[in-house]
Amino acid sequence: MAIAGFGKSQLRYDMFDITRSADEARRLTKCERIYHRSQEMAWDGKAILAMLIEKHGGIHISDEKKEALKSVFAIILWGELAAWKISAQLADELIPLEAKMAATSQSFDEARHFYVMHDYLTELGYEPQRLDRAPQALLDLVLDTPNLAYKLLGMQLMIETIALTVFQTVRESNVEPVLCELMKYFERDEARHVGLGMQYLPSLIAQMSKREVTQMITFQVRVMIWALWENKILEKDFAVLGIDPRKILDRGRKKQLAALHEAFNALGIDWQKDRNYAVATLNSAIEFIFPTDETKGRPFKQFDAAWKAFFHRDPIHSMDEFNVHVSHEIVTARGVVDAEPPEPAEPRPKLVSV
Ligand SMILES: [Fe+2]
Ligand SMILES: [Fe+2]
Repeated sequence: MAIAGFGKSQLRYDMFDITRSADEARRLTKCERIYHRSQEMAWDGKAILAMLIEKHGGIHISDEKKEALKSVFAIILWGELAAWKISAQLADELIPLEAKMAATSQSFDEARHFYVMHDYLTELGYEPQRLDRAPQALLDLVLDTPNLAYKLLGMQLMIETIALTVFQTVRESNVEPVLCELMKYFERDEARHVGLGMQYLPSLIAQMSKREVTQMITFQVRVMIWALWENKILEKDFAVLGIDPRKILDRGRKKQLAALHEAFNALGIDWQKDRNYAVATLNSAIEFIFPTDETKGRPFKQFDAAWKAFFHRDPIHSMDEFNVHVSHEIVTARGVVDAEPPEPAEPRPKLVSV
């Protein structure tokens, strides 16, 4: 506690003292770029929503689909508030200047996402209410953890990738033109937020013991369980919107794996080598909870798929998974912005197990 200028201050005068490897310096430079890109790409939420409503002549959708959209996007609404709070927590607690700047810019973006989603849902006739247990537990888990690595993993790499998956899949469904076009704006911002997790999480993992990494993966499994439950709750709403929940799961999983590989591979860690049995069990359970068209109603085929899923080693998904999100042309406060150039591939150290 600081008293009259004495004692420990919250001002980290040592923030510039941290020694960095060339790789960490490069990743932190990318974090700094996230902050500046956020300013360049900032869009006026009030103006864009009004423009889209005018362009499409208002919001026209059947009552059944309207209710399904309300269910799915109520979770997104409160998820945006959670993302706003979590990025503000990170902006306060991350020490290196560049990571702090990236988290601060995310906080600014999430505030915009929250009010724009609230305005859109108000147009649909949504009245704010408490979430179901699963999405509430998922968000609370990441909001409440004091561990910054868990926060980055839970929000930037897990929840943000789920959100990106929902935005992309809803946009492709063409279910409601105003929302579908709005999704392009959200996607461009959220892809940057995943970037903060990929670039800065390696710096935190590098300070962990093997046991601590294992504990973090256990936290990841808890996040995955609640996310799975949430998907189950939304199954009927996705069906009304013409979306296969299994497609959401598979697509989200590819994005999560690509982001996780990027973060762990920066340290040369092959995080799949010491396979976590909880993750394997979860992969198996998905085959029973969300059977495919091929296995639905066929217990033997389901069991076979679950058995294979348990022992399956995921291929390395490339960062191309995220290219779609940065390829949208959007109208920013500075004018129309075109697609982002793809990131050049970087050399990676030889992989070792955790
Ligand atoms: Fe957001
Ligand atoms: Fe975000």
